[in-house]
Amino acid sequence: MNDIYISGTGIWTPPHKVSNDELVESFNKYVDLYNSDHAESIKEGSLEALVHSSSEFIVKASGIKQRYVIEKESLLDPMHMKPYIKARNDEELSFTAEVGVIAAKQALNNADLDPSDIDAVIVSAANLQRAYPAVAIEIQNELGIEGFAYDMMVGCSASTFGISNAYCDIKAGKSSKVLVISPEITSGHNNFKNRDGHFIFGDICTAVVIEKNSQSKNKFKILDTKLKTSFSNNIRNNYGYMNAIEDKEYSESELLFVQNGRKVFKEVMPFVSSLILDQLNAYSLSPDEIEQYWLHQANINMNSYVIKKLLGDDFPPERAPIILDEYANTSSAGSIIAFHKFNHLTPGQKGIICSFGAGYSICSILLEKE
Ligand SMILES: CC(C)(COP(=O)(O)OP(=O)(O)OC[C@H]1O[C@@H](n2cnc3c(N)ncnc32)[C@H](O)[C@@H]1OP(=O)(O)O)[C@@H](O)C(=O)NCCC(=O)NCCS
Repeated sequence: MNDIYISGTGIWTPPHKVSNDELVESFNKYVDLYNSDHAESIKEGSLEALVHSSSEFIVKASGIKQRYVIEKESLLDPMHMKPYIKARNDEELSFTAEVGVIAAKQALNNADLDPSDIDAVIVSAANLQRAYPAVAIEIQNELGIEGFAYDMMVGCSASTFGISNAYCDIKAGKSSKVLVISPEITSGHNNFKNRDGHFIFGDICTAVVIEKNSQSKNKFKILDTKLKTSFSNNIRNNYGYMNAIEDKEYSESELLFVQNGRKVFKEVMPFVSSLILDQLNAYSLSPDEIEQYWLHQANINMNSYVIKKLLGDDFPPERAPIILDEYANTSSAGSIIAFHKFNHLTPGQKGIICSFGAGYSICSILLEKE
C-alpha cells in the first residue's frame, strides 16, 4: 500500500509589515489629493468625490489588522499606491522563483529531504509572473531537480488544487516526491486606490512537500481531496494576453482584482460547509471528529460562518486557527500558512485544509496525522 503524505511545509514572509492605520492614512491622503485635483468636476457633478477609508471598518468587516508586503515606501506614497519592484533581466532569477526557492528549502528541511529527492515541482497560484517558461521549471532548475515541473492557476484555491494534483500524480505513478509552491504576490493584482478592497490582501509564498511512503517524523496522510468549481463573475481579474489585441484601451484599474464581496460571501459560504459535510459523510466522520480546520483566510466572518456550521458555537479557537489578522488575505496561501503555523494534531487525529474563492473554486483535503 502506497500512502501519500504532506511531510513538510515552508513559508517566505516579506520583510515589510503594514498596519491598517498606515494603509488608511496613505489612502486618505490619496483621496484628498484626488478630490482637490478634480474639485471642479466634482462640483459640476460629472465626477464623484472619493470617500475616506477607516481602520475600524476594516477590522469589523474583515478581521484584518495588518499585512506583509514586498515593499512599503512606494505603496504608502499617495502619488504611487503600489509596491515598487525592480524589473529583472531574463538571465536573473525571477522574483516569484526566488521567494519560491526560499519557501521550498524550508519545506524540504522540515520534511528531512534534499532537493535531489524531489522529482516534480508544481507552482500553483492565483496569478503567475508570466505565461512561460513556467516558474516551476525555473525553480526546478535553480534547485537542481530532475523530473518535471509545471505551473497552474486556480484562483484562491490554487495551493490546495496543486496539492491535489501532486497527490494524483503520485497515485498515478508519475512522481513520488513533489513540491507544491504558491507565490501569492497579491500586491501585483490589488487595487490600492479602491476603498472597497485596498486593505484586503497581503504577500506571501508557501511551499508544501507531498510524498509517497514518507520517512518524515512529522507527516500527515492524505485520506481524500475533494474539489468543486462553479462559474461566477463575482471575483474577477481581466488581465491577460488577449488584452493587447482587443479593441479596447483598458484603464489600470480594469486589469486588477475586482470583486463583489457581499455576493461572494453569500454564495460561497453554503457551498463550503456542504462540500466539507459531503466529504466527511463519505468517510462516515462527523465534523467533531476533525480536530483542526485550516480554512481559507479571506474574512474572519466567513471563517466563523463555516466553522459554526461544522462545530456549533462552542469550540476552542485553536481548532480553526486564524492568521488573516496578521497576514490579511494571501489568496490561496492562507490555509497553508494556518496549517504551517498552528498545527497541534497528535497521531491518529484528523484535520481538514479547505480553500475557497475565485472561480468559484473549493478544495478540501482530509488528513490524518501519523
Ligand atoms: C470585502 C468585504 C470585507 C467587505 O465587507 P462588507 O461588509 O461586505 O462591506 P460592503 O462592501 O457591503 O460595504 C459596507 C459599507 O461599508 C462601506 N465601506 C466600504 N469600504 C470601506 C472602507 N474601506 N472604509 C470605510 N467604509 C467602507 C461601504 O461604503 C458600505 O457603506 P454603506 O452601508 O453606507 O453603503 C467582505 O464583503 C468580504 O470579505 N467578502 C468576501 C470576499 C472574499 O472572500 N473574496 C475572496 C477573495 S480571495
